[in-house]
Amino acid sequence: MAASVPRPPVIAPSLLAADFARLGEEVAAVEAAGADWLHLDVMDGHFVPNITFGPSLIAGLRRRTRLPFDVHLMIAPVDPFLRDFAEAGADHILIHPESGPHLHRSLQAIRALDRIPGVVLDPATPVAVLDWVIDLIGSVLVMGVNPGFGGQTFIAGQLGKIAEVRARIAASGRTIRLGVDGGVGPATARAILEAGADVLVAGSAVFGAPDYAAAIAALRGAGG
Ligand code: DX5
Ligand code: ZN
Repeated sequence: MAASVPRPPVIAPSLLAADFARLGEEVAAVEAAGADWLHLDVMDGHFVPNITFGPSLIAGLRRRTRLPFDVHLMIAPVDPFLRDFAEAGADHILIHPESGPHLHRSLQAIRALDRIPGVVLDPATPVAVLDWVIDLIGSVLVMGVNPGFGGQTFIAGQLGKIAEVRARIAASGRTIRLGVDGGVGPATARAILEAGADVLVAGSAVFGAPDYAAAIAALRGAGG
C-alpha cells in the first residue's frame, strides 16, 4: 500500500528546458504560473558533459523574480565558486559529493556564506554519504537520471533510494527537504511523491508543456 503524501510538494521548474533566448520572460512566466522555486543547473563541461551558465546569468535573473533560487552546481572543483554563486543570489546551493575532496568542508563553506546547503545524490551515489553531514544540510536532491541533460527517462530504481533518504531524514529529526531531479513528469511524479519526496524539480515537464500553470498544478496534485 502506498504511503499518503501529506502536503503539496514544492514545485521547482528547471530553467534548463526554457527558451534561452527569452530567459527573463520564461522566469516571469513560471513565477506567474505558480512555481515555488526556480531550479538553476550550472554545468561546466567537465564534471558533466554539458555547459550551461554561471553566476553572472543568475545575478541577472535575480533582479527579475522573487522566486527562491535553487542552484544545482555540476562543476568541479566547486569550492572556488561557492561565494560567487552566493553573491549572485542563490538561496540554496546544492553540490555533488564527487565535486570536491571534502564534502563536509564545502557544506560548511556554504553555511558560512549564509546560504542553505544541499547534497545531490547521483544514481550510483550511496545514501550513506549523508551520514556524517546531515546536521549541515537543508536539502537532499536525489537524481532520477545521470546529470548533464534534460529530457532523460527516470531511472525507476531510484525510488528505493528516495525512500531510504526519507527514512534517514526522519531518523535525524531535522527539517530537511527531499527533492528529486531528472525524469520528473506526469508519468513519474506520483510514485516519486509516494516514495517520500517533497520537492519536484521538473524541466521538460514544465517548460515543454503548452500551459505552464496546468503543468505545475498537475505536478503539485500528483500525490493525490
Ligand atoms: C539534469 C538537471 C535537471 C534537468 C532535469 O542534469 O539537473 O535539473 O533540468 O530535466 P528534466 O526534468 O527534463 O528531466
Ligand atoms: Zn538540476
